[in-house]
Amino acid sequence: MSRMKPTRSLMLVVCPMLVLGFLFYSSGRLKLRTWGQKSQSEVDSLFSAGRYLASVYDKQGFLHKLDGKLPVELMYKYGNLSRGACKPDFAAAKMTSIYPKFVKPAPMFLDLNFRRLSKISNYLPPFGFKTQENIIESLLIVTKSYGLGPELDSLSCKKCIIIGNGGILFNKSLGSRIDEYDVVVRLNEAPVRGFEKDVGSKTTMRITYPEGAIQNPELYEKSSLFVLSAFKPLDFKWLRHVILKEKLRGTEGFWKSVARYVPREPSDMRILNPYFIQEAAFKFIGLPHNNGLMGKGNIPTLGTVAITMALHNCDEVAVAGFGYDMNTPHAPLHYYEKVRMSAIKESWTHNISKEKEFLRKLVKAGVIEDLTNGIADQQPNKQ
Ligand SMILES: *[C@@H]1O[C@H](CO)[C@@H](O)[C@H](O)[C@H]1NC(C)=O
Ligand SMILES: *[C@@H]1O[C@H](CO)[C@@H](O)[C@H](O)[C@H]1NC(C)=O
Ligand SMILES: *[C@@H]1O[C@H](CO)[C@@H](O)[C@H](O)[C@H]1NC(C)=O
Repeated sequence: MSRMKPTRSLMLVVCPMLVLGFLFYSSGRLKLRTWGQKSQSEVDSLFSAGRYLASVYDKQGFLHKLDGKLPVELMYKYGNLSRGACKPDFAAAKMTSIYPKFVKPAPMFLDLNFRRLSKISNYLPPFGFKTQENIIESLLIVTKSYGLGPELDSLSCKKCIIIGNGGILFNKSLGSRIDEYDVVVRLNEAPVRGFEKDVGSKTTMRITYPEGAIQNPELYEKSSLFVLSAFKPLDFKWLRHVILKEKLRGTEGFWKSVARYVPREPSDMRILNPYFIQEAAFKFIGLPHNNGLMGKGNIPTLGTVAITMALHNCDEVAVAGFGYDMNTPHAPLHYYEKVRMSAIKESWTHNISKEKEFLRKLVKAGVIEDLTNGIADQQPNKQ
């Protein structure tokens, strides 16, 4: 047997000591971490993560830095498609990339299962259906139809356009471009006949509230879905009169005169999912919650409600006729009447400037396309 070298015997003593020392040291650290408060460095890193998130996302949850570039994963998905081809799920994917809280599924219209929609069951109109369940059910039993129709419902990719009523549409000859969309959404009494060159001739649906509905039955287009966006309980009663072709007795409770007859069969009438009003107001725009009740400046305009609906239900979303061209202050307020821009008044219910901030984010990030360029900041000297 050879004798151990002195260095080797020293190693035999030192190594176990190192191991024991290490175990002792790390168990102490472990105790500190589990029993003690969070260490200062951990607290610091949590704070800086919070600061980081706050610097990346704004108060509503949208990315601060917006540009029209496609995130890499979307480039991979869509970069390959030929120009002009419908990009499946594009608007929702782009929306999620700037607003990670976005959850796409939300039906366009109420159907007989509407009571299951938990997000709107605890809100009164206009943000939900609470207290209106029975009348809504009775209306839906009569309309019997709850989709866009077999042809559109079966499309695997839909391009939608929301036509605002702004004078910015006037004399831009966008009609034929608008008619190329699968779904053309018009709002309230915006006319088509006589304006086809600028606003197109196709109308898939007309979203209205009673005070905004076309009053002269002859001015309705031949066929389109008549979609009620209800802002108050009385609006459902109005739809019941219209559907059952009953004469409307009093009109107290409406803020202006309302249509008494709508030339549509019940099967062409729909009720817009009130979730879009709720989501636009409280999540996207950040209007005052007011305990979930209608209050000063917390109702989104119908145009923004329609855009919100499209983000959930269309693959691509475009708009035209929104905003104002500040370079032409004498443009008409609406494309179909002679009121000038100076007549704009901020109403009690809407907050136009906050709403425009939201729409600007969508345009800047390329979530929606604005054919008339009225939403993004007008840059002077830029054509
Ligand atoms: C995308 O590109 C790949 C490879 O270049 C090709 O095989 C595929 O067919 C393309 N897809 C589309 C939708 O163009
Ligand atoms: C409409 O635009 C055309 C040119 O595109 C112009 O010649 C015409 O004067 C415009 N009409 C009005 C009423 O502004
Ligand atoms: C719109 O929102 C801004 C910012 O929150 C607020 O200062 C303003 O008073 C609001 N306007 C209306 C009409 O509620």
